[in-house]
Amino acid sequence: MENAVCFRNIGELVLVEPGDSVVLAKTGKCALIVRKGKIDKVIRDSAVARHNFAKVIDLKGNAVIPGFVDCHTHLIYAGERKDEMEQRMAGTSYMEILKEGGGILSTVLATRKATEDELFESARKRMLRMMSLGTTAFEIKSGYGLDLETEQKMLRVGQRLRKKLKIPVILTYLGAHAVPKGQKIDTYFEFVMDNLPEFRHLADGVDIFCEKDVFTVHHLRQLFLQARLVGFHQLRAHVDELSHQGGCYNAARLGAISCDHLEHATPHDIRAMHLAGTTAVLMPGVTFFLGGKRLPLVHTMIDAGVTLALATDCNPGSGPSYNMQTVMSLAVSMYRINPEQALIAATYGAAKALGGHKEYGGLLPGQRADFIVLKTQDYRDLFYYFGENFVDETYSAGKKVKGEKDPVSA
Ligand code: NIG
Ligand code: FE
Repeated sequence: MENAVCFRNIGELVLVEPGDSVVLAKTGKCALIVRKGKIDKVIRDSAVARHNFAKVIDLKGNAVIPGFVDCHTHLIYAGERKDEMEQRMAGTSYMEILKEGGGILSTVLATRKATEDELFESARKRMLRMMSLGTTAFEIKSGYGLDLETEQKMLRVGQRLRKKLKIPVILTYLGAHAVPKGQKIDTYFEFVMDNLPEFRHLADGVDIFCEKDVFTVHHLRQLFLQARLVGFHQLRAHVDELSHQGGCYNAARLGAISCDHLEHATPHDIRAMHLAGTTAVLMPGVTFFLGGKRLPLVHTMIDAGVTLALATDCNPGSGPSYNMQTVMSLAVSMYRINPEQALIAATYGAAKALGGHKEYGGLLPGQRADFIVLKTQDYRDLFYYFGENFVDETYSAGKKVKGEKDPVSA
């Protein structure tokens, strides 16, 4: 074991064990052996002295859990929308703001103006902050350009971030996020369809905002069929969030890897997700931030055997949050799920939404050594003392992350 690193004196090691039902496996007083950035094995702490390791790190009896996977973010953007938050609290709805040319469209204007380097720097800072708070893998969408040049600029920034930070980053082309000001929906959608091949080398998958007054189920079907032909592997969609459009049902039937939001998804839609093996990506932080009343049918999903995933949705309009710990706390209290279910959704479930659950999200032998050392011995502190930060250190591929310790604003 000369080339292995030993993380010893772990008070509680939490692994995610897939099987008929995915469960947490907890081991007390143990050591985690990491070789070449991957989990090699777990041994008893009392056995550490019998081996020769390249390095031994004492974790002082604290808990270790898998790193969080944030499987739905829009973290590359310019500008903020604090005024809009105040407008919403005064009674104007999210969709009304968008219809008047604000909302997503105001971020589009700011993002078009920003240089590639500016977008790279601000997104990098956000990701470092998120990593400090425990996130070790990301999905990032474009969608604040709505023209060829800016959409490609955003995805190039995503590629640079993946290379620079050396962590799993899945990139998604979200040209169908909103209709640019002054354009007709069908003319713009035609542009999105015609230019899909231009994004094939820049993104792993596609996404669409299927919502009343934005894109229809018909658009979603066309996009997915074409995306498949062009060679995109991952189809995902913002569906049935503010109203029921049937987006979830259709996306699942066409083989979506994830359906996201789902506040209005019905049992019929949930059954389609189950049959297709589609993961449900839930973002309670968005409901909280927008002051929404409606919650997804989470327990129907669980009973149907649909895999749940959690994400921040990190974006300047509906979810300016960097913190998966907050998201997990909200999930527990809003959805009435237990800490075990929330932690599984934020790790294994979210990794599955990205097609990465074999590679990360569970701390199983052979997986990336992406883990969090907590400040205490009981992972449930994350949920019990809600609003606190219990992440002491984040490790990515066995290396300590030098994150961003302070809050980040634009
Ligand atoms: O997931 N619903 C559309 N897209 C984002 C919001 C983006 C924004 O408001 O800037 C979402 O909520
Ligand atoms: Fe989103």
